[in-house]
Amino acid sequence: MRKLVAFAATAALALTVTACGQNTASPSASGSASGSAAAEKGTIGVAMPTKTSERWIKDGEYLKKTLEEAGYTVNLQYANDEIPTQVTQVSDMVTKKNQLLVIAAIDGVALKGALADAKENGIPVIAYDRLLRETDAVSYYTTFDNFKVGVQQGESLLEGLTASGAKSPWNVELFAGSADDNNSKFFFNGAMSVLQPKIDDGTLKIVSGETDFNKVTTLRWDAGVAKKRMETLLTKSYSDKDINGVLAPYDGISRGIIAALKANGYGSGGKAMPIVTGQDAELESVKMILSGEQYSTIFKDTRELAKTTAAMVQEVLSGKEVTVNDTKTYDNGVKVVPTMLLQPVSLNKANVKQVLLDAGYYTEADFAK
Ligand code: BGC
Repeated sequence: MRKLVAFAATAALALTVTACGQNTASPSASGSASGSAAAEKGTIGVAMPTKTSERWIKDGEYLKKTLEEAGYTVNLQYANDEIPTQVTQVSDMVTKKNQLLVIAAIDGVALKGALADAKENGIPVIAYDRLLRETDAVSYYTTFDNFKVGVQQGESLLEGLTASGAKSPWNVELFAGSADDNNSKFFFNGAMSVLQPKIDDGTLKIVSGETDFNKVTTLRWDAGVAKKRMETLLTKSYSDKDINGVLAPYDGISRGIIAALKANGYGSGGKAMPIVTGQDAELESVKMILSGEQYSTIFKDTRELAKTTAAMVQEVLSGKEVTVNDTKTYDNGVKVVPTMLLQPVSLNKANVKQVLLDAGYYTEADFAK
């Protein structure tokens, strides 16, 4: 049932391979392009976590557009980051007999009852970007290489520290995403695969001593939660020394951290702004990278993820071979979920504008807004 697509090592190559996968995998996409789109193909339920983050708005928009172009009706729901709301939305999709569900979960486990109902009703489920855990009702998974995202974050933190001119050992703090999102640990472990050896050899000092994943998570990926923790860390551990860098897993969290740093005098009066990483290439953060406040972000082209997922939807529903390129990484506690992995791209001031303009993700006008 599965066709393996060669795994590409570089982002550029990976995009090509992904595009190839989609071309071979979505014969009906050409049908839609010729204008034969029709609602009789059925309804796809799309459950997204929240509109508070730019990326999920784009994911939802692109998925809707791509699936509609392929002839489906789309039932797109946002859950305002509230777990019970998302459970209700997914249950409702099952009750309404949506043909297939594409789900980006708030909590990877909380949907398992609703998903069991989907399975009982013969409704296939694709986990979108975030793995659905502890259920056998998920058929496939589309996402970016999450461990690699973390590696890139760790590498860019070290690069930034080196380029900053500050002398090592560097004082650093660590932040992770929401503990109930399966991605958070992948990002953190990826970053720590780069940072731990530097902690061990004394190049990095985690002054607070908080290095354990469970100590550094940020509930719901919330900027306010991150800001508060950063403020506490500065008060507790940095009254007599400066902080040089912060591992931040997502642009919203980065902005919360930067707000706390600025409120404590960093970035002015000769007190250097620490190196702060990020993820998602959100416009606000891209502007802060250009102005030198945030050091880096990780670009994950949500349009590609939407395209890949739409192609997969068609493969699943037409009973064709389903294109995946990873069949071992994503064990959800019940099964290893066959996955289509896309490649993330690390951005900093040197390449952020060019890469995003070349990709058509933003325009010059967006940067000027
Ligand atoms: C996504 C990231 C995003 C984060 C917060 C993760 O599951 O993979 O792209 O930054 O959620 O929304």
